Amino acid sequence: MIPTIGDPRDRVDGRAKVTGAAKYAFENNTAGMTYAALVSATIPAGTIRSIDASAAKKAAGVIAVLSHLNAPKLNPLSSQGGGSSEKQSPNTTGPTNYTEPRLIPFADNEIHYLGQHIAVVVADTLEHAMHGAELVKVTYAEAPAKIALADFRGDAKDKMPNSPDTKFAKGDAETAFASARVKIDQTYRTPYEHHNPMEAHAIVASWDGDHVTVHDSSQNIFAVRGTVAKAFGVPRDNVHVLSPFVGGAFGSKGGSWPHVLITLIAAREVKRPVKLMVTRRQLFFANGHRPLTEQRVALGANPDGKLVAMIHDGIGQSNSICDYVERTSRPSRVIYDVPNMRVLHRVVELNVSSPTYMRAPGENPGMFAIESAMDELAYALGIDPLQLRLINHADVDPSSGKPWSSKSLKQCYAQGAERFGWSKRNAEPRSMRDGRYLIGWGMASATYPSHRSPASARAIVRADGSVLVTCGSHEMGMGTATVMAQLAAETLGVPFERVRFEYGDTTLPQAPISAGSMTAASVGSAVFEVANELKKKVAALENVDPDSLTADSYHTLLAKHYLDQVEAQVDAKPPQQEPYSSHAFGAHFAEVAVDPDLGIVRVRRMVSAFAGGRILNRKTAHSQYLGGIVQGIGMALMEETHLDKRLGSYVNVNLGEYLLPVNADIRDIDIIMVEEDDPHVNPVGAKGIGEIGIVGVAPAIANAVYHATGKRVRDLPITIEKLL
Ligand code: MOS
Repeated sequence: MIPTIGDPRDRVDGRAKVTGAAKYAFENNTAGMTYAALVSATIPAGTIRSIDASAAKKAAGVIAVLSHLNAPKLNPLSSQGGGSSEKQSPNTTGPTNYTEPRLIPFADNEIHYLGQHIAVVVADTLEHAMHGAELVKVTYAEAPAKIALADFRGDAKDKMPNSPDTKFAKGDAETAFASARVKIDQTYRTPYEHHNPMEAHAIVASWDGDHVTVHDSSQNIFAVRGTVAKAFGVPRDNVHVLSPFVGGAFGSKGGSWPHVLITLIAAREVKRPVKLMVTRRQLFFANGHRPLTEQRVALGANPDGKLVAMIHDGIGQSNSICDYVERTSRPSRVIYDVPNMRVLHRVVELNVSSPTYMRAPGENPGMFAIESAMDELAYALGIDPLQLRLINHADVDPSSGKPWSSKSLKQCYAQGAERFGWSKRNAEPRSMRDGRYLIGWGMASATYPSHRSPASARAIVRADGSVLVTCGSHEMGMGTATVMAQLAAETLGVPFERVRFEYGDTTLPQAPISAGSMTAASVGSAVFEVANELKKKVAALENVDPDSLTADSYHTLLAKHYLDQVEAQVDAKPPQQEPYSSHAFGAHFAEVAVDPDLGIVRVRRMVSAFAGGRILNRKTAHSQYLGGIVQGIGMALMEETHLDKRLGSYVNVNLGEYLLPVNADIRDIDIIMVEEDDPHVNPVGAKGIGEIGIVGVAPAIANAVYHATGKRVRDLPITIEKLL
């Protein structure tokens, strides 16, 4: 039986993962392997006065100690690529993704944040390297550091002055807000959070002359290739990057962090392969995080609930060496129909490590603020929170005026509310109980844009009827390898079991970063197009209609023409002009039970309905949504990295003290996939679902906590002490 796209197939790599056969970056071993250990700055700002490596160099097994004192200098890097200098050396063009463009490792003695890697010790074993790293003595000249966001709000600046993602205005928001009959004006805060994938960042690098092989745990191998090529001034074809399995990333592996270049420097200097694993503790300091945000949301409405004004003014942490901006105001332009809007997101540059993308960056913290404010407005108006959202439903994209390529948010509200039993809710806070527990019901909307980037793919059908589809994309748990095989199988009309999808290697056709929920749309479109192209080529052998081919045709036709294989390749690109606005939407309904004496919050059940276009595999899609919701529960109740204001250091830098939800924290999660047929979004019809699952979870829970207790918590996470 020919499979259909959407079938809940098991992951093709599931067995390899659970049996340990899947090989992750750190597990690559070659002869002569050496091990690297990083030495990191213990001050947040200043300069290195001295590095004494004499004891380390004498220690057992130590091969080299490298720092700005003796390491070769790398070429300057931009984070985005495409700079004018790149045009002069076509050999090294292509995407780059260096995360800290104004901090090249070992370039000088300046310290920009605590945890910045300032030296590396290479040794014959991991233990010797770690011991050597402890023996490196560093002295500093400390400079005054800017640590706490609250102390430097006045320094906030628009770091993306030309981007509509950080500022948008229409109508006259100030005047409309001033004269609105019902108003909410509050500030919401989200904390520092760290991605903490199961697999910390790991890399193995070995040079052979001017060629280098890099096993990196990465979401963006082609950009790693570009970054390494540029930094070391070698042609990018000399750089071979492999990342076939990634043990979680959530955005933290979309950029090359300094440890990548440091490992490459080390391998070049010692002329042996070097292996580096960032420790869990180090991961907290120099591999990105979700930055702290403070967001003012002012909503003005008529007594009938119609919004007349929205002001969303956010600031978040950044620093002077990275380009990252958490665009919290991105969803505010999209989610409700408001005639007068002013949204802005600015950053404060601190001596704190570089933030980066973390699952639904922008949308996720932004929607916490907006959806909390909407709940407050619902109470101020005396209107049901779900009803308030329906009153303000955006029938077209409120910022561009474009029609939606498709939108099924109303169906998400209706199906979610029905399954949850929302109509039985008593709006009065503290009105619902179960024994001594206070019960609360809350809801929130979700949205995430549907992106697509260029991607290339190759497909080969062999005389035995088997099919190989290749694209240098990534598999970090989303199910890419599985859904791409499904897409190709159905398009070609061959059994799923006969199709294999290869990925995770820069010698394959180029794929974009696996981020922004766009792999299904980008790589999927390429796979869809290349399968159609291959089908046409085979059909052309006999001049038959491609759609008349059956599973047996490939074998029969190739044999008849004495062909070993037929191959096709495509470069699939999104259209230049987009007449539609494309977003996935969803709605979360949460029930919490709060212990009135102890302040403990339990999420008893959640019903979440999503419309994400065509679902390519109901099983892996369910896991994507589920993972997002679980991470959202963590955000609501647990996750926070504490930053010591005096030291400039994160404090709870281990999985014992950085709290994440575990199985016992997760109860009933009911996911509804609303059917949605989107003929416009891309050839596959998939909107992307990797991130929307988390968007709106935290406010749904915060709103439920308010309903249960009458206490409005505006700063995440909702910990016990905030409820006592
Ligand atoms: Mo994601 S934060 O786009 O990996």
